[in-house]
Amino acid sequence: MSRLGDRRNRHDAFYQRAQKGGFAARAVFKLEQIDQKLHLLRKGARVLDLGCKPGSWLQYARKICGEAAPLVGLDRTSLEIEIPGARVLVGDVMSIAPGTLLGELDRFDVVLSDMAPDTSGIRSLDQARSEALFERALEISLATLAPGGSFVGKLFQGPDFQRLQKLLRDRFAEAKVVKPESSRKESLEIYLAGLRFRGAPASLSR
Ligand SMILES: C[S@@+](CC[C@H](N)C(=O)[O-])C[C@H]1O[C@@H](n2cnc3c(N)ncnc32)[C@H](O)[C@@H]1O
Repeated sequence: MSRLGDRRNRHDAFYQRAQKGGFAARAVFKLEQIDQKLHLLRKGARVLDLGCKPGSWLQYARKICGEAAPLVGLDRTSLEIEIPGARVLVGDVMSIAPGTLLGELDRFDVVLSDMAPDTSGIRSLDQARSEALFERALEISLATLAPGGSFVGKLFQGPDFQRLQKLLRDRFAEAKVVKPESSRKESLEIYLAGLRFRGAPASLSR
């Protein structure tokens, strides 16, 4: 995880910029670069952020979507910073019900996932775990997005890449692959986005 406290990140230019800007992690620039490319976030958008700790994506969403925008975050452990007005849940994405994430909301406009597994160093295992997290985030997006909404999920690129890309193409008008400049070159991570959600099949509605 790209935390500000990581020794590896201390002298990194993105780390320095995140710290100066008051953001919880350098990961903020990944979302900023994805958003500048795909125009996902707008004033008032209802946003779900899966794997939201330490909180920089929620901070960015609050800045772009404004004070009144409903923001919901989920992580396995609680945030150490406060995101004004955000509803932050502690739980596991694999077991939480989409309806619990929605709460009082009818739908989300944007579902984000920057979730990453605890890495083992065994490439095939880490890829499989990342694919499972991505697929679950996609499943949640299909059950909670408003028609026309967007999904972005992190993936360690592996053997299931084509299959996951096809799943996106089936449910969204457009599928995009983004490797933000701030994502380390040596990292296998990429972000897969689905734009303009076609609407939930009846079986996936909450
Ligand atoms: C790279 S960090 C996210 C950084 C965040 N986007 C930010 O900018 O602050 C990945 C997060 O995914 C969370 N995560 C991994 N597996 C999860 C799961 N099964 N359920 C919920 N969160 C999970 C981790 O706890 C971790 O905090």
